[in-house]
Amino acid sequence: MTGEIRRIGVLTGGGDAPGLNPAIKGLVYRGSELGLSVVGLFDGWRGLLDPLADFMPLDRDTVSRWDRDGGTNLGSSRTNPFRIPSEARSLDRSDEVIKNIAKLQLEAVVACGGEDTLGVAAQLAEKGVRVVGIPKTIDKDLAGTDYTLGFDTALRNVTEVIERSRTPAGSHRWVQVIEVMGRHAGHLALWSGVAGQAHLILIPEHPFRYDKVFQLLRDRLGEPDLARDRFHRSRYSVIVISEGAYAQDGQTVTIDDRHDAFGHARLGGIGEVLAKKIMDETPYEARAVALGHPQRGGAPSPVDRIMGLMFGARAADAVAKGDFGKMISSQGIAPACDLSLTDLSVVRGKINTVDVEIYYDTDRYHMKNLGMNL
Ligand code: F6P
Repeated sequence: MTGEIRRIGVLTGGGDAPGLNPAIKGLVYRGSELGLSVVGLFDGWRGLLDPLADFMPLDRDTVSRWDRDGGTNLGSSRTNPFRIPSEARSLDRSDEVIKNIAKLQLEAVVACGGEDTLGVAAQLAEKGVRVVGIPKTIDKDLAGTDYTLGFDTALRNVTEVIERSRTPAGSHRWVQVIEVMGRHAGHLALWSGVAGQAHLILIPEHPFRYDKVFQLLRDRLGEPDLARDRFHRSRYSVIVISEGAYAQDGQTVTIDDRHDAFGHARLGGIGEVLAKKIMDETPYEARAVALGHPQRGGAPSPVDRIMGLMFGARAADAVAKGDFGKMISSQGIAPACDLSLTDLSVVRGKINTVDVEIYYDTDRYHMKNLGMNL
């Protein structure tokens, strides 16, 4: 049924995300029906550099319970084989990857990842490697697909924190600033903010104004009045801010000056900056928390399990049909979704961000047309 393809590799690259292990299970299960044997490659593209022994055969028994596991059981890295750091410069070691694929007798590779991992897959496809992509990132910023594995679980995780932040904020009557991941896309911040009913949501797609944030807080909280506020536990506010958000007269805040092999700075710190400004320039107390990596943690949600299993199974189908240089793409989200294949090159050079015109109210710093006056 699979023609010449018998043995394939699978790898997971970039930030870990719930849904990757279900995808591997879907690939192995459907692949076994199609006569494919699957080899798991460790630590993303790094596993195809050195050492060569870094792989494990995956059969139905091995992966039968993986659908319940968060993260990735194959490990991950942000290795870019086209730009391996070496002293003062970087080396293109992609030919070694290609040689190692052949040495491992892999006739195709399924790569699960975001714009970086799949960008490498697209470049390798141009060099003749038979590769199929599975979209993954909690940021949901990948072009060419409506869904990326991990987003739904991260949304659940962040929403839970927003909810839990209400009791401390309400008890102390302060402004709780919650910094959420997402890089330069505000999907996770916007939708968790809506689900958790945050009062303000700040996203990278629309640079915010501090004076407007302060005014919106004043509109909601009024002047602090201890006697009155004692009986008003709702005199607090929750602001969700995306790590990539920035003020109109400011810039993106980064953790340090370093960049990864794909040229990305690590974002983080804008929540603290905002909380400090609120304390300095308004009568309100403020606290900030950056949710960090646990946002990506925990068991996959039902949506991520279903989408992962389906993405994996469709990737096996694509391999069996010889549909290479493609990525599984979803139109809609489980259970109402259609899956198709799209050219891997769509992921290169552009990201999918929040459509401000449709979804974001630039006056209220909230979702548009929800009637919210929080
Ligand atoms: O792309 C996923 C993501 O979690 C982003 O939201 C975040 O900016 C980045 O990864 C963090 O990078 P790292 O996992 O390398 O710390």
